[in-house]
Amino acid sequence: MSKTIASQAVGPPVGARVRLSSNESPFGPSPAALEAMQAALAEAHRYPDDQSVELRNALADHEGCAFEEVAVANGSAALLMDLVPHLCGPGDEVLTFAHSFIVYRLGAKNAGASYVEVEDGGPATADRSGYGRDVDALLAKVTDATRLILIDNPGNPTGVHLTADELTALISAVPEHVTVVVDEAYHHFATGQKGYATVRELDVEHPRLLSLRTFSKAYALAGMRIGYIVGPADIVGPLDAYRPRFNVTVASQAAAIASLADTEHLQHTIDGTLAGREHMASGLRQLGVPFTDSLGNFITIECGTAAAPIEQAYSQAGIGVRTLPPYAMDEQLRISIGTPGETEEFLMASADVLAGIPSRG
Ligand SMILES: Cc1ncc(COP(=O)(O)O)c(C=O)c1O
Repeated sequence: MSKTIASQAVGPPVGARVRLSSNESPFGPSPAALEAMQAALAEAHRYPDDQSVELRNALADHEGCAFEEVAVANGSAALLMDLVPHLCGPGDEVLTFAHSFIVYRLGAKNAGASYVEVEDGGPATADRSGYGRDVDALLAKVTDATRLILIDNPGNPTGVHLTADELTALISAVPEHVTVVVDEAYHHFATGQKGYATVRELDVEHPRLLSLRTFSKAYALAGMRIGYIVGPADIVGPLDAYRPRFNVTVASQAAAIASLADTEHLQHTIDGTLAGREHMASGLRQLGVPFTDSLGNFITIECGTAAAPIEQAYSQAGIGVRTLPPYAMDEQLRISIGTPGETEEFLMASADVLAGIPSRG
């Protein structure tokens, strides 16, 4: 069962010309990162710095935190797969909203912990965005057994977010024995919009509050596998000791350092993604297809019928999109934002592919 979930969650589409299935950046890595990776390859015979000192220093500067408050790993998903079993075991509960990032469930399974989901508002309709998250409903599920709360903000695969006020209310009401991890994989695409704020921007204190970040999205380094976590040194230190040694390659560390410094390329990627998201949203609106208001680099649409054949029809047109069976979302498709040309190609194909779907208004 877990094997099926994992492969469905991450498999790239076979032979797709336009790949809108994995929430990657279509704009490519920073040229400075490419150069740094090429230079680093000459050091491929050397083990990487296990402590990632230069990168962690750069991240500490970037985040305004101490070196000891940041840990890196080969992707934020890998970090989660360490973090959950590190903090939780049998008898413990991992609490999250329904339709959260699938790796939370996989981590809880590896830990032998219970996975507790809080229902959300369900799918979008023609006049309502979907999957609304209720902070009070989540707080009502906190028990003495709750060890860890995981919040993807914005969430994948729905794109929904908690506002700064909602997140503040949540964090300030969580008991001190519970660790709260806010997964901010998509924060670059949400900043300054619809009441969104990152953990660092909130005016709230909690002794076990962490934020999880990745270089896979706005920094366009998904293939290099690099993510990081920021939080109190007494949690981050033992977590860093728990991870597999030498897990972040020489080239990945170099790429991340160069990407952090290339703010121009980052802004280019953010601007292109936001414009693409608006382009896709307005095209879908014209087609009358319901979708959830997303602050990520993707949009999730409602088909009102089994999504798998529709994904196949896109595939025939050379376009890879994501079905969501691991999330029990059988009538939804998640579409990542591509280049302007790719988004246009998706919309052109959609006029035919989505012609007969029952959800269209
Ligand atoms: C919410 C969320 N968190 C984390 C990740 C994992 O990113 P990484 O590539 O760093 O493992 C993803 C990837 O899609 C995601 O959607």
